[in-house]
Amino acid sequence: MARQGKVTVVGAGFYGSTTAQRLAEFDIFDEVVLIDIIEGKPEGLALDMNQSRPIEGFETKVTGQSTGPNGEGYEAIAGSDIVVITAGLPRKPGMSRMDLIETNAKIMRAVAENVATHAPDAVIINVSNPLDEMTALAQIVTGFDHSKIIGQAGMLDTARFTNFVAEKLGVSVGSVSTLTLGSHGDTMVPVPSACTVDGKPLSDLLSADEIEELVTRTRNGGAEVVALLKTGSAYYAPSAAAARMAKAVIEDSGEIMPVCAWVDGEYGIDGVYLGVQAEIGREGIRKIVETDLTDTELAGLKEAAEAVRAKQADVQSL
Ligand SMILES: NC(=O)c1ccc[n+]([C@@H]2O[C@H](COP(=O)([O-])OP(=O)(O)OC[C@H]3O[C@@H](n4cnc5c(N)ncnc54)[C@H](O)[C@@H]3O)[C@@H](O)[C@H]2O)c1
Repeated sequence: MARQGKVTVVGAGFYGSTTAQRLAEFDIFDEVVLIDIIEGKPEGLALDMNQSRPIEGFETKVTGQSTGPNGEGYEAIAGSDIVVITAGLPRKPGMSRMDLIETNAKIMRAVAENVATHAPDAVIINVSNPLDEMTALAQIVTGFDHSKIIGQAGMLDTARFTNFVAEKLGVSVGSVSTLTLGSHGDTMVPVPSACTVDGKPLSDLLSADEIEELVTRTRNGGAEVVALLKTGSAYYAPSAAAARMAKAVIEDSGEIMPVCAWVDGEYGIDGVYLGVQAEIGREGIRKIVETDLTDTELAGLKEAAEAVRAKQADVQSL
């Protein structure tokens, strides 16, 4: 099998390490680089992942590298085609994603500056929270084209929605198709009108109240996991989402995915990073794909855009 390219994962915590392992197990990259500021952590995890290669049967090499306060160690990411940024604090029970903004903005600034210096041609996939704001900050700091900076949230939120619908109806997840747009937070916009089960509209199978219950559970999907874990946030489903996005980029697949992307005119919304469907390719976002929305869904999307726009303006000063 032809392997190609280099992908870096910044942050070797739960999200980053599971993403690195998934990327390596795809066996489609030449190299996966995992970096973190904690000395020895990425090196140790990389050693462990490489030792799983004979068992899992993949050849992709994993490199671990710790980095210093002045960017020491960042040479390891040179030539990366993709950089997945997971560096940042996760939520604790009772916290909103927005409570992380000041701390994670400082981390994002430091990381994005180093990525711009050492991997200027990379497509960035950000997952650090608050998602829409940190994605905007990554673009501001790197100065990369908007199309080269993507945030991960919609893939995860949609997967949560799909899982809840499948469980409710007792059907396979493969038979369910759902969609969420908007921001990764309180103004998430689940789109029931675009949801189907075996091609049938969801509204034929569940009452409006039942759908609303699943929508609410989806909106609070991250908090539900945080409340149970108590010491951190979700990472199995989130890492699956980020890894799939990186795969779509390196394979130039043209897949249409729900992601956080720069919206400039679509849906009548201008100049903001927001959850929408987009075609993903080697250059990042090829184009935003607009979908038919009900008046209520469109109003929800516009409301999410304005809420995110206000916060994205604030991050410039953080
Ligand atoms: N977008 C999503 O859907 C989604 C889902 C879950 C979690 N998250 C977010 O992902 C982020 C990471 O979550 P986690 O569970 O892996 O947390 P974690 O605490 O397990 O790991 C974070 C890691 O980042 C590292 N780090 C901190 N500053 C760094 C820097 N400057 N450079 C490199 N590494 C640095 C830490 O040392 C730590 O190892 C959090 O912000 C969390 O909110 C996003």
